[in-house]
Amino acid sequence: MYVCLCKGVTDSQIEQAVRNGCRSVRELKKNLAVGSQCGRCTSHARDVLHESIHAHCRPIEIRPSDSLDIEVCYT
Ligand code: FES
Repeated sequence: MYVCLCKGVTDSQIEQAVRNGCRSVRELKKNLAVGSQCGRCTSHARDVLHESIHAHCRPIEIRPSDSLDIEVCYT
């Protein structure tokens, strides 16, 4: 199904972009030109992006034994 008519971008292309590492509308715009003309597709593109991320990406699991070079601050 077409998500962006101006640029002829489909939901399948967005799903493929997510599989290739795309995680934001900005990256979609850069890689596929989604929303770069009239902009009316941006909201739907965002929905497809989030659905694809949810469907194709698993959250990482961090075990206590993993060494992380980050600092966590609690407020
Ligand atoms: S429909 Fe996507 S930029 Fe116009």
